[in-house]
Amino acid sequence: MKFKTEIDITINKFIGKKGILIPLLQNAQDIEGYLSKDLMSYVSEKTGIKLAHIYGVATFYTMFRLKPQGKHIIRVCKGTACHVSDANSIMKEVNKQLDLTNEEDTTKDGKFTVMSVACLGCCSLAPVIMVGDNTHGRLTPDSIGKILKKYE
Ligand code: FES
Repeated sequence: MKFKTEIDITINKFIGKKGILIPLLQNAQDIEGYLSKDLMSYVSEKTGIKLAHIYGVATFYTMFRLKPQGKHIIRVCKGTACHVSDANSIMKEVNKQLDLTNEEDTTKDGKFTVMSVACLGCCSLAPVIMVGDNTHGRLTPDSIGKILKKYE
């Protein structure tokens, strides 16, 4: 764990209270970036909550990440408007540009993590991706390379 002191502060903030696990894990994830096995074991040891229960919660909720994420998060919209505007080709091109296979979502250099999401709320711009907080719309596969270069 990189941020043991911050994790200890978070645990101490929640310990002894009811219903602490989800907010505690959210805080811990915000600090470390993801929930590693070491982190979950440490939370278990410090709180007395069984590791199997922590792991069960961490894997049940999609907001929790069990693997480190890239510096830039790319959200490829697969909502209806984007889907009918060929979001699949956009996703294929993003993966191709970043040299990712279907099983991988994070580049080897740790710069990018790609995820598909439901509607990003700007359907009139379909197909849409977000890189971090920036929205890029009315995309074609040819436009992807230029966009990603900005974040290299
Ligand atoms: S469906 Fe893609 S932004 Fe709404």
